[in-house]
Amino acid sequence: MEKLIEAALAVRLNAHAPFSGFQVGAALEDAAGRIHTGCNVENATYGLTLCAERLAVFKAVSEGVRRFSLMAIAADTQTLTPPCGACRQILWEFCGNIEIVLVNLQGKREPMHLADLLPRPFDATFFS
Ligand code: THU
Repeated sequence: MEKLIEAALAVRLNAHAPFSGFQVGAALEDAAGRIHTGCNVENATYGLTLCAERLAVFKAVSEGVRRFSLMAIAADTQTLTPPCGACRQILWEFCGNIEIVLVNLQGKREPMHLADLLPRPFDATFFS
């Protein structure tokens, strides 16, 4: 958990956020204990911006990883920053009801599960 939080705080500094100025870092631990990180990468079109959480998931998936245990999300806010709606859906797709810990730069932390953030999720079980 500590290593994962450190990784989320560290990768946050790589955020490319010239438009919002809002830096986010995410670190995703897989079932083998490996850590996959992501930061938000913005684009002048705005709509092509990638969130930190989705980037961490997609990086891991692109390396063949499919089983995950925990994600840490770091941002510089007093009220801890939760994943956006789109990221909640992507996290559900690949990580199921994963444990998530939100953190800020002052050491504030809040653990939760994805189902707390995304009740009654839609997924492939409805049509397969
Ligand atoms: N952002 C994230 O990376 N993750 C979140 O959970 C919330 C929002 C980014 C997207 C954009 O670059 C900036 O924060 C402001 O919305």
